Amino acid sequence: MNVLVTGGAGYVGSGVCEALQQAGHKVVVFDSLVQGHKEAVLPGAALVIGDLADQRALKDAMTRYAIDAVMHMAAETVVAYSVSDPSRYFHNNVLGGINLLEAMRAQGVKRIVFSSSAAVYGEPARTPIKEEDTKDPVNSYGETKLIFEQTLRWYGRAYGIQHVSMRYFNVAGASERLGEDHRPETHLIPNVLKAALDPAVRLQIFGSDYPTKDGSCVRDYVHVKDIAQAHELALVALDRLSGEAFNLGSGVGYSNLEVVAAARRVTGKAIPVEMQPRRAGDPAVLLTSNEKAAGELHWKPAHSGIDEIISSAWQWFSRHPKGYSA
Ligand code: UFG
Repeated sequence: MNVLVTGGAGYVGSGVCEALQQAGHKVVVFDSLVQGHKEAVLPGAALVIGDLADQRALKDAMTRYAIDAVMHMAAETVVAYSVSDPSRYFHNNVLGGINLLEAMRAQGVKRIVFSSSAAVYGEPARTPIKEEDTKDPVNSYGETKLIFEQTLRWYGRAYGIQHVSMRYFNVAGASERLGEDHRPETHLIPNVLKAALDPAVRLQIFGSDYPTKDGSCVRDYVHVKDIAQAHELALVALDRLSGEAFNLGSGVGYSNLEVVAAARRVTGKAIPVEMQPRRAGDPAVLLTSNEKAAGELHWKPAHSGIDEIISSAWQWFSRHPKGYSA
């Protein structure tokens, strides 16, 4: 298929492009390059530099490259900013998404796989989280992802657009050539590895009084390569799966301190830790069941052991200590 990947120069988006190419699809990256990196666009992929606000650019890209399907990954993603500045989130994640759907309608593109988030659940009522559990987002990031999932439902019904939503848990790790380069970096594993690389970088761990095994938050880490593979599986099964949402996680929880311990083991570095008060908006535990993805998508995370996640990211950071610009 010819696949338009919005946000294809970003961390997860570029990983998805790599998996699509490996499976024999043609990839067209649509990315503003505000957060994305030109260096993350793979050889063989076309790059259209554009913004989701620009419906004409979206339509032109769909026509020019005879697009069959869309992977929608472009989004504002930092949870903390989504609380302090929700406007950007509603504009880019909701309005931008609707522009994309309108362009698809106009050009007769009927397939979309959407990058959603565990943030749609908010503070989970139970763990492991299942797809049918209550959705009550606690930040505008999760709210905008949920609104777009619901928008897809109605566009699907009325206009025959086939859609699947992928709710990621904590994506981490790297492939041989693609890694994580957010600016600023707010995620745990890259920050742990930056501290491992440079003793001048101080690693802060937010919260030591959560009701968990060691007082730090517990998260479900899933390798970006496994996430990417799930998208390819969903794309080719859209006829069968349209309307579904899938939780994508390993189904295993690690506390923040366990992640640091694993990173010490993998890197052989001391990685001193500075304990800090809780970070606003962090649920104590985020952990998913991946039974539905296993059963219906036939997805089995093959790279999501914590040591493989950390060592793949460590190799990438060691090669790119300053990210893509280095
Ligand atoms: N953390 C630290 N120090 C850091 C960075 C993070 O202690 O330097 C802690 C956080 O406080 C949290 C845990 O590590 O307890 C994980 O934090 P991340 O920022 O790595 O990830 P989140 O769980 O906050 O967010 C991720 C995705 C979001 C998604 C959310 C819900 O980045 O997009 O999961 O699944 F919404």
